[in-house]
Amino acid sequence: MVTAGQPQLLLGDLLERARREIPAAGADELEAQRVRLLGRKGELSALLRGMGALPAGERPAAGAAVNAARDEIEALLTARREAILREARAAELGGAPIDVTLPGRRIAARGRRHPVSEAQDDLVEILARMGYEVAEGPEIELDYYNFEALNMPPDHPARDMQDTFYVRPPAGARTAGPILLRTHTSPVQIRTMLARPPPVRICSPGKVYRRDDDPTHSPMFHQIEVLCVDRDITFGHLAGTLDAFVRGFFGEDFRVRLRPSYFPFVEPGAEVDVTCTFCLGKGCRTCKGSGFVEVLGAGLVHPRVLRAVGYDPEEVSGFAFGCGIDRLAMLRSGIDDLRLFFENDLRFLEQA
Ligand code: DAH
Repeated sequence: MVTAGQPQLLLGDLLERARREIPAAGADELEAQRVRLLGRKGELSALLRGMGALPAGERPAAGAAVNAARDEIEALLTARREAILREARAAELGGAPIDVTLPGRRIAARGRRHPVSEAQDDLVEILARMGYEVAEGPEIELDYYNFEALNMPPDHPARDMQDTFYVRPPAGARTAGPILLRTHTSPVQIRTMLARPPPVRICSPGKVYRRDDDPTHSPMFHQIEVLCVDRDITFGHLAGTLDAFVRGFFGEDFRVRLRPSYFPFVEPGAEVDVTCTFCLGKGCRTCKGSGFVEVLGAGLVHPRVLRAVGYDPEEVSGFAFGCGIDRLAMLRSGIDDLRLFFENDLRFLEQA
């Protein structure tokens, strides 16, 4: 312990020890030295405090000596710290070489895209290659866009095909008619055509809602809507596009089959089947022996729909189709219960 009394003498000892020990210290010891010598409760501070006992005339010289000692100790510490770093670096360079071509360590639990997102991204990419851009619309939608402009006026029986969640607007809110959770992505057709003149080539993936809940239906699911409007668009363009769409998604060996059907917003309308993914067309229980499963609805845009958005059906024509993304993902990965997609059980998601 350093005590007041003979500060100059003590300072000499202290410096001498520092000069001897610091240049030999290892990294940990160096820090201990710094604390012991220069720290707030260290030896130099103690000496400074002790100087209060000196005659006033001696204090300035003693203070200067302590400051000089501090500078020297700091320089010793810095020099030693740098020397340690240099030695470590030299040891590293001189040691066994690092093989930079060795593969890194894998991170065990990595996330991955959800199978439905994966299917959606694949579909958008297939369509993008054919010149379609993505258009989006709101999930809380006006009755007008979801039904009326799509040729389904208020009492149209086709509204029953889609059990609807209606939304009660906040008290006092003024809305342009009833509000609902969109039952399909088709309203994006209307919004897009109202916003720009033809030609139009868009696809619109997103969430839709229906009052349904069983192994193959969920109250929320995903659809993608495709719309193409231009001069002289024919049913042949629709068939060719469907073919490319289905083969792009399932594989080149898959075929489409069109059956006449009815949707209010198209004329003629069709239901589209694809080679059964379970039996690859041979016929099985899933496809009831037909070799095909239904995947989507399609048709030529109804002239009333074109008129509703201010397009002239004498000038332009178009086709549209819409399908459930979850259903396509189920078929592609051979899953028979849609709810698996939404339970988020990692054991399932990691396999799907
Ligand atoms: N919106 C229809 C549905 O959800 C699917 C559909 C059928 C979309 C025919 C279309 C179409 O664009 O032309 O059931």
